[in-house]
Amino acid sequence: MDIKAFFKLSYGLYIVSSSYKSNQSGCVVNTLSQVTADPPKFSVTISKNSFTKKIIEKSGYFTATVLTKKATMDLIGEFGFKSSESTDKFLKFNTKLDENNIKYVTNHMASRYSFKVIDSLDLETHIMFIGKVLEAEILNNDDVMTYSYYHNVIKGSTPKNAPSYQKEPAKKGYICTVCGYFLDSDKIPDDFICPICKQGTDKFKKI
Ligand SMILES: Cc1cc2nc3c(=O)[nH]c(=O)nc-3n(C[C@H](O)[C@H](O)[C@H](O)COP(=O)(O)O)c2cc1C
Repeated sequence: MDIKAFFKLSYGLYIVSSSYKSNQSGCVVNTLSQVTADPPKFSVTISKNSFTKKIIEKSGYFTATVLTKKATMDLIGEFGFKSSESTDKFLKFNTKLDENNIKYVTNHMASRYSFKVIDSLDLETHIMFIGKVLEAEILNNDDVMTYSYYHNVIKGSTPKNAPSYQKEPAKKGYICTVCGYFLDSDKIPDDFICPICKQGTDKFKKI
């Protein structure tokens, strides 16, 4: 099997969030997609290790927003590489509440949707949730962020919990031990800050 063939698939980037009692959670996903038109239903695949999966299961509802190309690494670092169990990821960003009182980020989002979970499928490492659309709204008309733009232009990486995670081939440089960002260089400047998770050089390992 040539797993490079998987790189030919195209995706967008989204934040899926949910809330249950006092718990708010949210994470970056690339696996949101519309699966039926009438009534409109979407699927999303969430890791069993993620806090967002637990909160969606408890509440039975989730919301999703579509990232535009202007979305910052700060936002992707917060929602794509940290756990909502230990961090209030929404604190630094502008947010609104949907009809189910679930928070969603509004900074650099093209659209947003609210869902009721109507089914789920156990995929061993991940759960696929099927959500019926309750609300949908366009937030702005900027170009949307694609998965390939994130990898090829912004040079972002994908953590192990993402279903599309691929082991990187061995290369030389510096790797951020917090988020996996790879700096392709023989030297790392003393004041270098990880563009994804904002850590300093003390968190980088030479490989
Ligand atoms: C580009 C990108 C794509 C991702 N796609 C998914 C995905 O589709 N499903 C998933 O479970 N995690 C995905 N992740 C990983 C989660 O965002 C990450 O594990 C997050 O820290 C989970 O947060 P939580 O524990 O607060 O839910 C992705 C991360 C990035 C950066």
